[in-house]
Amino acid sequence: MGLTRVPGLLFGGDYNPEQWPEEVWQEDVRLMAEAGVNLVTVGVFSWSRLEPAPGVHEFGWLDRILDLLHAHGIAVDLATATATPPPWLVRDHPEVMPVDAAGTRLEFGSRQGYCPSSPVFRAATVRLARAVAERYRDHPALAMWHVSNEYADHTAECFCPESARDFRRWLKERHRSLDGLNAAWGTTCWGQHYTDWTQIEPPRKAPGPVNPAQLLDWRRFSSDALLACFEAERAVLKEVTPDVPVTTNFMSVLRDLDYWAWAAAEDVVTDDAYPDPADPRAAVKAALSYDLMRSLKRQPWLLLESAPSAVSWRPVNVPKDPGVMRLHSLQALAHGSDGVMFFQWRQARYGPEKFHSAMLPHGGTATRQWRETLALGADVRRLAEVAGSTTRAEVALLLDWDSWWGLEAPESMPSDRLRLHELLLSWYAPLHARGIAVDLAPPGRDLSGYRLVIAPNLYLCTAEQAAALAAFPGHLVVGPFSGVVDAADQVHDGGAPGPLRDLLGVRVEEWRPLPDGAVQEVETADGTRLSARTWTEWVEADGAEVVARYRGGPLDGRPAVTRRGNDLGNGTGSATYLSCLPEDPAPLLDEVLAAAGVTGVAGPDLPEGVEACRRGPYLFLLNHGSRTVTVPLPTPTQTTTDPDTVFTDLLTGRPLPSGPLSLAPGDAVVLKQSSPVLNSTDRF
Ligand code: GAL
Repeated sequence: MGLTRVPGLLFGGDYNPEQWPEEVWQEDVRLMAEAGVNLVTVGVFSWSRLEPAPGVHEFGWLDRILDLLHAHGIAVDLATATATPPPWLVRDHPEVMPVDAAGTRLEFGSRQGYCPSSPVFRAATVRLARAVAERYRDHPALAMWHVSNEYADHTAECFCPESARDFRRWLKERHRSLDGLNAAWGTTCWGQHYTDWTQIEPPRKAPGPVNPAQLLDWRRFSSDALLACFEAERAVLKEVTPDVPVTTNFMSVLRDLDYWAWAAAEDVVTDDAYPDPADPRAAVKAALSYDLMRSLKRQPWLLLESAPSAVSWRPVNVPKDPGVMRLHSLQALAHGSDGVMFFQWRQARYGPEKFHSAMLPHGGTATRQWRETLALGADVRRLAEVAGSTTRAEVALLLDWDSWWGLEAPESMPSDRLRLHELLLSWYAPLHARGIAVDLAPPGRDLSGYRLVIAPNLYLCTAEQAAALAAFPGHLVVGPFSGVVDAADQVHDGGAPGPLRDLLGVRVEEWRPLPDGAVQEVETADGTRLSARTWTEWVEADGAEVVARYRGGPLDGRPAVTRRGNDLGNGTGSATYLSCLPEDPAPLLDEVLAAAGVTGVAGPDLPEGVEACRRGPYLFLLNHGSRTVTVPLPTPTQTTTDPDTVFTDLLTGRPLPSGPLSLAPGDAVVLKQSSPVLNSTDRF
């Protein structure tokens, strides 16, 4: 049993039957069955059809389609339909529409038009969620609840008076008193001292930079306000159907929502991933977001939306070349998804997404897209046994939303070029290229299960987080501009790295961001040269040893990289601090990987462009490159009765002898050691 009551891997997509005459439904379910679809998401934007007038419900069409789907063996991820309030609600209560930072109330005519703090909106969503839950609680097609849709996609924040009231409530809980708030926000700066709660407003468009501490609290609040919307609906669903899993679809590596907090409120993590086929880094960006999804609850997750080919919302919507949909889908499975789902099943005839690709395109079944849909459905069926298997990572990258929000405050930083997603990628990409499994983790967590932990940036770092890092017995790498401020965005006494100072054994005296295009040379102790861009620091070693120094310029000879516990070979942990951003951190990374005893799942010689992921007893090898490559297969750990038939490729059912494997561009294999059968804790 996988994430839902549907066995095996899930395959399907968003299905909007209300956009089609009922005759089309018959063809839909027939073709779904042909493609092996076993789950569809229904009703996401159906509020105005399900409740055409206040309290008046029209469930007939939804009853009929759920019955029809069930009759064809297709389960349903049923939406609570609250993603877009209906016109009558907006006409009767214009205040449910969100207001932007400049004070403009947005108009009806798109989707996600709601203020997260609106009591009218929240009450209406809860009423509809209850009506839907009570109607379908026992429907045999119901496999999962899908609350709203992509929170924070169009509406991540609202600046209306109701939101201001809610913000004040939230601030009172956090800061207790006005004195506490004034102190935390540093309101003596620029004359912002508050003498009454009613003076406090959201950080609207102002003449100059807004108070960054206020902005940080605002981002925390905005994530919480949307989470409260989710939780209100979830509570009703859990009351009516305690055993049906509840999800809401995430948006990959998204700054607006603290997904650690959100995932804790969900039963199943689901993600919508739309890597741009025109982006040469599409595969590595997707891999990072999939590993985040797997890490959020440390269990399999579900790719709930992806594009069969082109999307419709980029300035230029490049389609996926033949085979790319398959490769990208297998990639999600390799990283722990228990299925492959798309937006959407049937390509729309009208609306802003009429040019968005679909599993079943405008051209119907005589198309390349449909043939690829059928073939992928067959692949997914062949991989059914992969469902539920887990990944064990020995490396973790730290990710903290508070710190991210603080780091990316506009107009008040030494440089606005430090962007957390890029900083994560700068470490993730070389790990990925080496076939090393990576988890994402919040900094306060017990990290003792990992051998290597990398904090690309921890601008905001509390004493508690620093203590958790100090307790980590393995190898720790901390990137620049870390340990700078506390939870209120106030600079730690004595400067950076604040509470990490003893652990890292350094003091930072000055931030020295580099102008765009400038390069600072760095030389390691063994003479290896690295080029740093974007950022450098004036650092004093204070207990740490210097493992690389700046060469040239005003920092010439000064520490660039330091390490405490420098004897990497002595079997104990170490703490490395990088005060710069090397263009290619590989030499430093390889050193700590060797010290930590971490190797890639497919050995050290992974060809460029090949992705290797281990999931339980399965080894996924995917060739994202443009050349045919030879991948050395791992040595089996146990002897088999037939040494020539050691592995089976689940995708073809073909036995493979151990030894090098040739992988064409865009091709993939999913290997399982044939004999003896390994369980999920065995290694190749
Ligand atoms: C998602 C959204 C879907 C659809 C899709 C198109 O953001 O949840 O409803 O719009 O994008 O790519």
